[in-house]
Amino acid sequence: MYKFNSVNQGDDARYINELCDRAETALEQGLLPVELLCDDKLFRAEMERIFTNTWIFLAHDSEIPNNGDFVLRRMGLDQVIVARDNSGVVNVMLNHCRHRGSELCHEDQGNASHFKCPYHGWVYKNNGDWVTAPHLQDAYGGRLDEKQWGLLKAPKVESFHGFIFASLSEEVPSLRDYLGDAAWMLDAVFGLHPDGLKAIAPPERFRVKADWKSGAENFCGDAYHVSTAHLSAQLTEFMQGVSQVSTLAVGYLFENGHSFIGHRLSSAMGPAGELWGYPQEMRDKFQLDHLDEVQLEMITHRPPTIGTIFPNFSFLRVPQPAAPGGRAVPFTNIRMWQPIAPGLMEIWTWEFEFACASDEFRDEAYQSGQFGFGSGGIFEQDDTAVWEGIGKAANSPWNRKNGTLLHYNQKRCEPDPQWQGPGRFFPNIYGERLQQEFWRRYIKDLRDNAGKTQHNATMGGSPCSR
Ligand code: FES
Ligand code: FE
Repeated sequence: MYKFNSVNQGDDARYINELCDRAETALEQGLLPVELLCDDKLFRAEMERIFTNTWIFLAHDSEIPNNGDFVLRRMGLDQVIVARDNSGVVNVMLNHCRHRGSELCHEDQGNASHFKCPYHGWVYKNNGDWVTAPHLQDAYGGRLDEKQWGLLKAPKVESFHGFIFASLSEEVPSLRDYLGDAAWMLDAVFGLHPDGLKAIAPPERFRVKADWKSGAENFCGDAYHVSTAHLSAQLTEFMQGVSQVSTLAVGYLFENGHSFIGHRLSSAMGPAGELWGYPQEMRDKFQLDHLDEVQLEMITHRPPTIGTIFPNFSFLRVPQPAAPGGRAVPFTNIRMWQPIAPGLMEIWTWEFEFACASDEFRDEAYQSGQFGFGSGGIFEQDDTAVWEGIGKAANSPWNRKNGTLLHYNQKRCEPDPQWQGPGRFFPNIYGERLQQEFWRRYIKDLRDNAGKTQHNATMGGSPCSR
């Protein structure tokens, strides 16, 4: 088990401050200290200052549709129960019994009106309220104030297009405000049909010896790696055009470190590439009237294909064959880069499909997503192999001694002044501006949240909004 120590005071706090100073200076020149990709003190600062103070994605409504449904998820290092209580409200509760701290729930998902601790048997409702304990009169004789001993609950729980996020901080802006103009982009990605998206299956989970930020920053803007890291897909004749795909890439940058890569799919594929390459049977079902002109033009010609909502929520939708030689169909992959320990993350990936899709199309899209980006997917293997190398670079005594800086300094690409939508649009992806903004947001959070503690997490019994 990873042992957590605070870095909010003393030498550790100074170390983080100095590292932030160095990173800010380096970023001005398009560079980044290598140790940002694996460092023990930095990891602890991330857990303490970022993951307990911002919005973290946890689950989708379609995973817990009924009262009593629950799933086990993570917020940084903490395991939480995400449960829809008997009145339909979603609660996010720390999965530790208030008596002596034993883990309360050991099922990944299920339906329960109550949770009973396996150690001494304290019982809680599915909204976190304390209910009872064995031998209540003999053991406590009326000395237990049940209102004080409910489960710890995240004070903020909100959802967007059914994607449920929570925060341990009372001070965060609303989820919609936090997403900012990236919500406009997500409306165009998730809002193609009023019935929305559904998770096809529970998330796959697998561990990679790499930093969580390697995944997050790759998905926020790295279209440059595709022609090299994923060339095997072309060499094995699984997919054509991989070596040229980065020339089709564009960038969409929003506030708070949120950004998306898009691809000019209609340039490469003609009309078949419009709307992410969805086949006619899906296009006939989509209801796009609520989208504005810029969104419609964007998703027709250069839709967002990959993106990251800071810090660790990412999305992916590209047209891809379900097997070599098959037709390319788009899949919707949602993923989290879960920090586990310095240099170790767990990747969680969900395949989603629009609820309006036929069973046949849903299955085809699922296979397409799994073939490329399941835990054994051809592209997933490419990415995770190179990210593990970055973790080793960050751990290298030679690199540390040398003060090695990583290179984020391609030829500067300016945003398109003609862009009519929110945020900034980059007509090509060179320049690494999106990744730079991810890192700026990361450093800002480390600084702004220094000294903030988790003491604002509410006790059981407090209301929890949806
Ligand atoms: Fe849960 Fe004792 S630790 S009842
Ligand atoms: Fe990749």
